Amino acid sequence: MRFSTRAIHTGLQAAEGARPVAEAIFQTSVFEWGAIDEPPEFQYTRYSNPNRASLEATIASLEGGAHCTCFASGMAAIAAACSILRPGDHLLVGSDVYGGTLLYAHTHLAALGIEVSEFDSRDPEAFANAARPNSRLAIFESPTNPVLRLADIASLAKEAKRLGIVSVADNTFATPFGQSPLALGADLVMHSTTKYLGGHSDVTGGALATNDPDLAAKMLAFAKAAGGIPGPFDCWLVQRGIKTLELRMKRHASNARVLAQTLSAHPKVRAVYYPGLPSHPQHEIAQRQMRCFGGMLAFDLDGTPDQAKRLFAGSPLFRVGASLGGVETLVSYPPAMSHAALTEDERLAKGITPTLLRVSVGLEDPDDLIEETLAALARLG
Ligand SMILES: Cc1ncc(COP(=O)(O)O)c(C=O)c1O
Repeated sequence: MRFSTRAIHTGLQAAEGARPVAEAIFQTSVFEWGAIDEPPEFQYTRYSNPNRASLEATIASLEGGAHCTCFASGMAAIAAACSILRPGDHLLVGSDVYGGTLLYAHTHLAALGIEVSEFDSRDPEAFANAARPNSRLAIFESPTNPVLRLADIASLAKEAKRLGIVSVADNTFATPFGQSPLALGADLVMHSTTKYLGGHSDVTGGALATNDPDLAAKMLAFAKAAGGIPGPFDCWLVQRGIKTLELRMKRHASNARVLAQTLSAHPKVRAVYYPGLPSHPQHEIAQRQMRCFGGMLAFDLDGTPDQAKRLFAGSPLFRVGASLGGVETLVSYPPAMSHAALTEDERLAKGITPTLLRVSVGLEDPDDLIEETLAALARLG
């Protein structure tokens, strides 16, 4: 079956005495045993639950993985992936990954005696040079936040394999409809399901999929023991979101493309970052590894930081918020939001100028998005 068919029909759990077309919600923490010496498939919701099993089967199918474990948040999934590290091991993190991932690595993992260093995920050679004999795990994203830099996933995964390092690709921005890191050689693919998979800004969750049975067993064991698992209703919400993932991603991407083109042609815009634009420095990699260029873009205003901060002030359409991947367009100002903890020099090294805005382009009518953008730019004078 093809992508959208699997997104809709995978994982549906039977409910005794009824055959619901929509998934039933198993809002229970515990399941009854038929007999003491016959443990049922589902025993206790922290171990598993039909809604979680259903969601895991669906995400595994869409990512081309044999296994998936779901978590209470994207960060809980990152923590599970990092649970294979032991004191004295070395973790490599892409320098452009989500700020929460960097914070977790540099504070909590470093405090456990794990060495942490960053590498430029655009450059597989830089990755190989940063590797040490004790390197055990590498985490990277593609596209990255906020300036949509790409990693050549196949090359990075190949280097990681050669060096005996487990590779984790955070596929939150691209989604499984946009690209398939496992097929490109990554060992684990990770999601903040809070974003596009949930798709409606109403749930928090995470997931890790893999084809490696040993890694899968470790992720499940960590979920069971540490307990950072999603509840049945949260799983149900993500599962419902996934049913429209393909349709939504196609519209997110076509809206993002026309908005990126409009911004590129505007004299008040210095630069536009969108992997689907031929002007993107890594457009060739995007064409090679992405089926869909996604709904995230960023642009650098040719103006003052204050003008950037106020560009969409009061707009009912371009609302400001620190997330992404929902049906509604959402703008963020990285210097004061996702990257506020960095120094100005550190931000500039990542391409984050004081006039940069990031847009999670929603599913609204593209003409409204363009009219509102042009009106906001015209107000700058
Ligand atoms: C790329 C990426 N990875 C991971 C996370 C963490 O996910 P969560 O907020 O669901 O814990 C985020 C959150 O913004 C993200 O953007």
